[in-house]
Amino acid sequence: MKSKASAPGKVILFGEHFVVYGVKAILCAINKRVTVTAEKMEGGKISIQSNIGNLELEPGKSISEINSPLKPFYYLADKMLKNENVGIKIIVESDIPLGVGLGSSSACCVAGAAAISRLFRKTSNEEILALAIEAEKTIFENTSGADCTVCTYGGIMEYDKKNGFHKIESKPNFHLVIANSNIEHSTESVVGEVRQFKEKDEMRFSLLCKKESKLVEEVLELLIENNVKKLGTKVRENQEYLETIGISNDKLREMIQIGQTESFGAKITGAGGGGCIYALTNESNLEHTINQFKDKNYDCFSVKIDFKGLDTF
Ligand code: MEV
Repeated sequence: MKSKASAPGKVILFGEHFVVYGVKAILCAINKRVTVTAEKMEGGKISIQSNIGNLELEPGKSISEINSPLKPFYYLADKMLKNENVGIKIIVESDIPLGVGLGSSSACCVAGAAAISRLFRKTSNEEILALAIEAEKTIFENTSGADCTVCTYGGIMEYDKKNGFHKIESKPNFHLVIANSNIEHSTESVVGEVRQFKEKDEMRFSLLCKKESKLVEEVLELLIENNVKKLGTKVRENQEYLETIGISNDKLREMIQIGQTESFGAKITGAGGGGCIYALTNESNLEHTINQFKDKNYDCFSVKIDFKGLDTF
């Protein structure tokens, strides 16, 4: 029997990094997906195949011994294989660019948790999310859980560590243009740098958290009004806070400038230090914004919100 699941990538619209410290973030799932197929196999091994490489190991290894970006899959398979006398073959297919802040690893954890666990029993979305967050922690211990949550439930949502998620029901009329710096980043190390910034000046960081919280509440109102122009000013404001905590660089600043010439506002999305930015547009400036990036040879595409979330077959 094969078990297959797919999960969407994500864009953090507002609140990345601050969400790690309890501030509310606003995220949406996007129409780019990871699909994971899992199958029991003879021989008792865990075998993982993906377009970033393969991994084949006996079960029962300590996670800290494994040096592979595929270790969340190993973790999940090993956990499910306890007391079972079989192996698992896992195939990963992804159309989410890797390591650039669009949720490729959380989508892998969610689709992996669903496909692997459902080989053994029917699992609910809540269980799958909990498993996915455990798996994500094997590569990034301090995750806020926001990314796996939106990859599981899809749509657009507010999220905070204490209260979990709340879906935003209004259907926004904006389009997101994503531009990729093609600089891969490690979320863990950028989050570590922000922690150092915080520890150097707790007062300043706490003030920034307050400002971000206020901004997020204002954004929630603007989403109800569907006021894309005013949302754009909030995008710019959020980018200033991200600049302050030190997750930007010259290339990202240049991309934000390009994005902002035609769009309502542009900011880093995800951990920063590389990765992607998004520009907020609607029908009136979508094409122009894309062209601005293409003229300067940037890797750029528009994304739609995915309302489906995790899908199992
Ligand atoms: C990474 O996509 C988002 C961060 O806020 C980390 C997290 O929420 O776990 C930087």
